[in-house]
Amino acid sequence: SSSLQQELIASIRNIADYPKPGIMFRDITTLLGNPRAFRRAIDELVHPFAGTKIDKVAGVEARGFIMGGAMAHQMSAGFVPIRKKGKLPHDTVRIAYSLEYGVDEMEMHRDAIKPGEKVILVDDLIATGGTAEGATKLLQQMGADIVAACFIIDLPELGGRKKIEALGVKVLTLIEFDGH
Ligand code: PRP
Ligand code: MG
Repeated sequence: SSSLQQELIASIRNIADYPKPGIMFRDITTLLGNPRAFRRAIDELVHPFAGTKIDKVAGVEARGFIMGGAMAHQMSAGFVPIRKKGKLPHDTVRIAYSLEYGVDEMEMHRDAIKPGEKVILVDDLIATGGTAEGATKLLQQMGADIVAACFIIDLPELGGRKKIEALGVKVLTLIEFDGH
């Protein structure tokens, strides 16, 4: 892996058996709190789109808001929050999405994206891809032209990337971890 990848991996804290036995939790708060790692991660996610006019960056609550705000600022794009249900005050579009156990719903404001707008979707991590699949479908329902879906971390064994690519969306990730 590249020196950037090694630096990002080293900046992430690994917590064994959280939130459940057998799960290795990838804690990005240490990456976010590291000025150089945070800047380099955002720069790397934004770099491929230099020269492409991006209208909106859509971030998934909660951790996707952190990268999404920074990316939108750097790309001179707007930011669109995709929120867990019941948080947005105006007319929304809503979609159910699958979690490891059970389902939840996410939503966005109906007027947040105009048909044909170029949108980057972002979250911190893609695991099973249930969250990103829901967000992708919501954006596609609104007529968004999704230029890419971006994540710092991919857990490739869980198959999320393939789910998003099957929806016709390019996936960009920075680092991978094995297992959960
Ligand atoms: C985590 C992570 C991703 C999602 C990935 O969020 O931040 O959004 O899980 O999992 P998936 O690919 O299997 O759907 P979580 O739902 O824990 O909520 P949070 O971001 O609000 O902490
Ligand atoms: Mg999340």
